[in-house]
Amino acid sequence: MADHRYLSGNALVCGDNYAVLTNLPDECVDLIYLDPPFNSNQFYVAAFGDKGVVSQQLRDIWRWTVESQNAFDRLPRGQLRDSLRGVRLQAGEKSPMAAYAVFMGRRLAEMRRVLKPSGSIYLHCDPHANAYLRLLMDAVFGDANFRRELVWSNEDQSGFKSRANNWIRGHDTIFYYVKSAGLQTFTKQYNALDALTIRRYDKVDSDGRRYKIYNNRDGTQRIVYLKENRGAAMSSVWSDLPSFQKVNNTGEYLGYPTQKPVALLERVIEASSNPGDLVLDPFCGCGTAADAAASLGRKYLGIDISGIAVRLMQQRLESRGDVTAPVVYGLTWDEFEWESFERRALAQRDDVEDGIPGWAWAEDRVAALLNAVPNTRKQGDGGVDARYFGAMDVGRKEGVIIPIQVKMHRAPSVGRPDMDRLLGVQTTMNNRGLHAPMSVMVSLYPPPEPLRVFAAEQGRVTITTQEEGAVDYPRMQVLSVEEMLRHGERPKLPPVDPRSLVGDTQDKMLIL
Ligand SMILES: C[S@@+](CC[C@H](N)C(=O)[O-])C[C@H]1O[C@@H](n2cnc3c(N)ncnc32)[C@H](O)[C@@H]1O
Repeated sequence: MADHRYLSGNALVCGDNYAVLTNLPDECVDLIYLDPPFNSNQFYVAAFGDKGVVSQQLRDIWRWTVESQNAFDRLPRGQLRDSLRGVRLQAGEKSPMAAYAVFMGRRLAEMRRVLKPSGSIYLHCDPHANAYLRLLMDAVFGDANFRRELVWSNEDQSGFKSRANNWIRGHDTIFYYVKSAGLQTFTKQYNALDALTIRRYDKVDSDGRRYKIYNNRDGTQRIVYLKENRGAAMSSVWSDLPSFQKVNNTGEYLGYPTQKPVALLERVIEASSNPGDLVLDPFCGCGTAADAAASLGRKYLGIDISGIAVRLMQQRLESRGDVTAPVVYGLTWDEFEWESFERRALAQRDDVEDGIPGWAWAEDRVAALLNAVPNTRKQGDGGVDARYFGAMDVGRKEGVIIPIQVKMHRAPSVGRPDMDRLLGVQTTMNNRGLHAPMSVMVSLYPPPEPLRVFAAEQGRVTITTQEEGAVDYPRMQVLSVEEMLRHGERPKLPPVDPRSLVGDTQDKMLIL
């Protein structure tokens, strides 16, 4: 069943665009602009602090996974599949580029399906993958529907880019294709007249219209109005739109890492759509395309997988006040919380918010998620970041204490030495007469499979509580905050000692 909710004209959707696209009806969109990740193999960290919005980390790193293989295997025979086979041969069967190309190829096929016959698509890319993307666009849209390679010249002679021992990169590429050549909506755009040309129209008629007297070759004269001079038609090279690397002191800049200028989007939208048309941006970021579409009286559908991006778009469009507020779909607090968590957990050691460094804040949040008590001493804690106080183990006649270790690093966040240390801590606790039959390792990102196997190899332990009777628990567990926040997973733990939740565990904390 096709989903028509998103076609209202002011929709922002938080989710994977593939899922959203596959649910849209055929031929419902007039114009698509997309500015996807570029396979740049980089992390971007954005900070929107001064705009009151939290920052986020974007990953543009690709790997060939089981999902890539499945997606490739499910592609129907045809040009797209052949082209992807070509990419895999050229770039490596299981290369990051192959994974990226499969990701993009199947989304482009969906974009073609939802585009109206009069529709156009603009694919914005940088040199990391543009050769492959052109190949995929030809495969999906047909080379006969290729209209132009546009060059957005965004030269910036200063800063990081200029350090390369190379010709300094000065442009992005935008591939412009249409669904059916000849049927497309297109309004030619003209360069603004320069001041000198305008000054030549030095007379004003009784209706206030500026004009000049033009001398014809045959000696006669005629009146030429300024309004009739549309200037030179725009070419495929756009060098009048500075990027935010060059000019970021305009009120427009929100600090989103890959934010594009609204003027760039307005140019695309004015040329290839009419007022009232629906503009789709499936990788909408901070909502530049949606903002430009709203300004020009077009409808918009913006999609982004990042909750922070969608909140930022929402805020951007709501704060305008001159257009209908966006309707937001698919934004869950868990997704939003995961991104905020990730960003703050990875912040530099000296990046302190509300007086708490990110790593300490992350440890406290993990403790809260698990109903555990954080170790507030933090330094010299013998390797325990938090402790979970479980109910009385009837067999031992004492409460269970479970040491929790938290590793908030980039992937892989946790390694075998960390697991060994945690087992050592557990042994020390038991040697000191505490009842510590289990331990939990919490990483930021999902742990490598061998560590899960290692944890499982530690065996199981039976704990008997009045609340649940005899239950088998893993002696050691390892899981990530990402799995907890995004998928609701939790370690398997015996019932909590309710006194620990109200801070009544100080005596035990002191002897640890
Ligand atoms: C290059 S940025 C777009 C920037 C945008 N043009 C702007 O001006 O803000 C790419 C965006 O694609 C989003 N993204 C990546 N994978 C996605 C997916 N599968 N579905 C939807 N959005 C995705 C990222 O979160 C990121 O915001």
